[in-house]
Amino acid sequence: MKIDLERINAYMDRVEQSETTTFKPVGSKLKVGLDLGTAYIVLVVLDEEDNPVACEKQAASVLRDGVVIDYSGALRIVRELKAKLEERLGVELINCAIAMPAGTESSARTHQYVAEGAGFEVTEILDEPTAANSVYRIEDGVVVDIGGGTTGLAILKDGKVVQIEDEPTGGTHLTLVLAGNYHIPFAEAEQIKQDYTRHREILPVVKAVIEKMSSIVSRYIDKDNVDTIYLCGGTCCLTGIEGIFQREIGIETVKPQNPFLVTPAGIAMNCKL
Ligand SMILES: Nc1ncnc2c1ncn2[C@@H]1O[C@H](COP(=O)(O)OP(=O)(O)OP(=O)(O)O)[C@@H](O)[C@H]1O
Ligand SMILES: [Mg+2]
Repeated sequence: MKIDLERINAYMDRVEQSETTTFKPVGSKLKVGLDLGTAYIVLVVLDEEDNPVACEKQAASVLRDGVVIDYSGALRIVRELKAKLEERLGVELINCAIAMPAGTESSARTHQYVAEGAGFEVTEILDEPTAANSVYRIEDGVVVDIGGGTTGLAILKDGKVVQIEDEPTGGTHLTLVLAGNYHIPFAEAEQIKQDYTRHREILPVVKAVIEKMSSIVSRYIDKDNVDTIYLCGGTCCLTGIEGIFQREIGIETVKPQNPFLVTPAGIAMNCKL
């Protein structure tokens, strides 16, 4: 069974809107998801029925390979984002879910300290690709979350996660290759990469890195039993990335219109009230 891309696009559209618009929640309890990423720290607020309410994000480099390397920096940003949301909502946010890349479970405690230090009560800890699948609801297939520094993978069978993996590759590598090719600083390359009008031009430059990512992902996929790869994560915003995956691996590869906030929204869905 294929996922309902229309439902997912509509939902993710609403999550994106909640960055600037504060939606009225159904019920009185709010769910929060904290995504401590290598490139972005994101807080998503949902109501009891998982409707998006508000979202705040901040570019940050306080993690490496999914592990917090700048604890006080992470804490400060989460505090700031929480305060912004509370100001927008007029209530205090308490419960929150957190997630980590597969294989970094030992750093769960640090993630939890960051959340608790910012004033949250952590009610659920899960892995990132599983969180992403809370939005996708895939029964059989593979979810690939390509972030800034890491690529996470979840293999689903009959609606259950049977395998999770994490590889240290992501959008930062694409930016480095662009910077090298154009002889420009990293920050400038990052800006170009996020500019949709330049995606056609840069795709051939970063193609080899994406092919490498595809071959890494390919290793984990049982081609006789998987018919679709579902992409998410900020790096998958890159126009045409799904085509490269599909050609390299030989399996249909799809992504929603905006794959950026899938994992943070999925983390929030798992917040216990
Ligand atoms: N429009 C865009 N086009 C291409 N890449 C983009 C775009 N927007 C964001 N990115 C890239 O997405 C990456 C960040 O994605 P995401 O927020 O999913 O990562 P993260 O969760 O912080 O990192 P990780 O999961 O590796 O810890 C960055 O490398 C950024 O450059
Ligand atoms: Mg991520």
